[in-house]
Amino acid sequence: MDYSKKMELSGKIVKSPTVLSPMAGVTDLPFRHLIRELSDNRMGVLVSEFVSTDGCDAFSLKNRKQVLFFEEERPFGIQIFGRNPRRMAEAAMAIEELSPDFIEINAGCPVPKVAGKGGGAGLLKDLPRLRDIIIEVKKSIKLPLTLKCRLGWDEENINVMETLAIAEGEGIHWLTVHGRTRVQGYNGFADWEKIGEVASCAKIPVIGNGDIVSAKGAMHVMKTYPVAGVAIGRGALHNPWLFSQIAALYNGEELLAIQAKEAVSAFLRYYELMLQYGARPEAALGRLKQLAARLCKGISPAYPEFRQDLLVSQTVEAFFARAEKFINFESEGKIFEPERLLNLNGKTSEEINFGQQFKR
Ligand SMILES: Cc1cc2nc3c(=O)[nH]c(=O)nc-3n(C[C@H](O)[C@H](O)[C@H](O)COP(=O)(O)O)c2cc1C
Repeated sequence: MDYSKKMELSGKIVKSPTVLSPMAGVTDLPFRHLIRELSDNRMGVLVSEFVSTDGCDAFSLKNRKQVLFFEEERPFGIQIFGRNPRRMAEAAMAIEELSPDFIEINAGCPVPKVAGKGGGAGLLKDLPRLRDIIIEVKKSIKLPLTLKCRLGWDEENINVMETLAIAEGEGIHWLTVHGRTRVQGYNGFADWEKIGEVASCAKIPVIGNGDIVSAKGAMHVMKTYPVAGVAIGRGALHNPWLFSQIAALYNGEELLAIQAKEAVSAFLRYYELMLQYGARPEAALGRLKQLAARLCKGISPAYPEFRQDLLVSQTVEAFFARAEKFINFESEGKIFEPERLLNLNGKTSEEINFGQQFKR
């Protein structure tokens, strides 16, 4: 069987062509647990938050909370970042002992403290170094090695095709392409035409990434462009049921409608999970607000005060007292539709700021 354009691990096709895209400060154990539960375990692949390969030895790396995962989370990948080929290889060897299903190199992080130091998207300015890292890591581990990149550093330096050529030449298992440049950060829209171009030239599976917020959106890009799958980041905060909705649509089943009361249950469950995994209530409140900030954008824009109410809660009790009001939304004719958002900033294309987020 030709697996070359499908997401495959250990000779098996991944059950759904979806990836929960790694997000530092978001996709930790409790969040992944929540998403798995709300998705009825119908998602494809999970990836850890990224872990730095600088300044820590193998022992401390293996004990970082970012690399912990459970059997139920498989197929699971651990993502590493850095700029030094030897250190990246040593970190990969240490991580291999934890037996994830794959290891991923990050060549997409735009934040100055990573990209500015030559790691993450900084590697797109120095492709020979990226190649050296891949070669060094590849020869040190047996696990499949994947790569996540952006289109290039800025619009004058779009080099994703060169990145693809390196990935193919050096035995990368699959390439995830976020359809923005580093300088763009998260502004504007992901360029799916470009992602499609990469996918059509590629001999390895290409996973498209950027701005997927609905099951229909995911199906649209999978039908329009020859990607092997989609990676979804912020959309999972906006609509934590998205992966089961995609699996349903992909298998020709009816799309599950989400009611406001399910959103409140999601907040409660998330809180419970965070405490179960050892979070302090104050830290958990911050995470609840992080979820609410995106999830509540699915409420009719006529009621912005509800989202605002949640976000200014000083205590977990106040947060849940306010969230309870949400349960009656449907009966009051206030609609909650996770599918309603046009883009991840909650704006229409006319309103969106196409400027750059970072300096060149
Ligand atoms: C808060 C936050 C943290 C992120 N952390 C990571 C990370 O650790 N590794 C990574 O490869 N990408 C990271 N990303 C990028 C996402 O994985 C994804 O590529 C990007 O958000 C575009 O996809 P989306 O439009 O579906 O969110 C992060 C994004 C956000 C918003």
